[in-house]
Amino acid sequence: DLAMRAILNPGDEVIMPDPHYVAYDSCVILAGGTPIMVPTNQENNFEISAADIEARVTSKTKAILIGYPANPTGAVMPKNKLADIAEVARRHQLVVISDEIYAKLVYGVEHTCFATLPEMKEGTILLGGFSKAYAMTGWRVGYAAATKEVIAAMTRIHQYTMMCASTMGQVAAIEALKSGEDSVTEMVEDYNNRRLVIVKGLKDIGLTCFEPRGAFYAFPSIKGTGMNSEEFAERLLTEEKVAVVPGSAFGQCGEGYVRCCYATSLADIEEALSRMKRF
Ligand SMILES: Cc1ncc(COP(=O)(O)O)c(C=O)c1O
Repeated sequence: DLAMRAILNPGDEVIMPDPHYVAYDSCVILAGGTPIMVPTNQENNFEISAADIEARVTSKTKAILIGYPANPTGAVMPKNKLADIAEVARRHQLVVISDEIYAKLVYGVEHTCFATLPEMKEGTILLGGFSKAYAMTGWRVGYAAATKEVIAAMTRIHQYTMMCASTMGQVAAIEALKSGEDSVTEMVEDYNNRRLVIVKGLKDIGLTCFEPRGAFYAFPSIKGTGMNSEEFAERLLTEEKVAVVPGSAFGQCGEGYVRCCYATSLADIEEALSRMKRF
């Protein structure tokens, strides 16, 4: 939100993948901008391509907003494809807002920090936070790295809205950085096990499921059930008390999928899978 409010003028366009984290398009709209969607799907591994971005660049385009590893799909973009996006951004002088809050949660693949790509340090607004890797959801500690000018503009807005992150949260974040790495490694291993169980379980039920390589979500297709994603989620919740998020919450291209979060115990995941099978 701060990044958008800091850089957008009314009518500026921001290109982003669809499906995407629920706040992305809303934050652009709240800042007076227009979100421009790039459809992604299971067939292209929910990756956003440089060519698809470039096809949507107009005189009003200000920025590209990406978030990999991705919520809701678990997709992770390979370095060469991010480099292609960086090249488009440089050529059209677009800012890239890269939400890398799941950077540490990758399984068998490498995460590439967008700002480390050639000449992208200046052109990137890097966003991160402690909620995911350090399981500090609700502690409200996040961060942004960008040029001095952008950070100054963001700080000015921040000062009059959030004021500051809680003192407790800030102290905890410092402690997490100092001594949390072993716990993160342990959790990544654990999440990986849960990821393998949930993806296999969903496939065994008969749902096709893209293999997520990051974050802690599986995004199976429910197209074969004859229900739309909202109906599926509502009925699964009321009939079997299993909560999933309808894919449509993440954009038009999310329709036909549901998001299953595996940031919960293996026992709960197994129970949820057996209820889904019954459903
Ligand atoms: C992609 C992404 N970015 C940002 C956030 C915000 O996290 P928080 O508000 O806990 O810092 C989330 C939370 O779900 C997310 O999935």
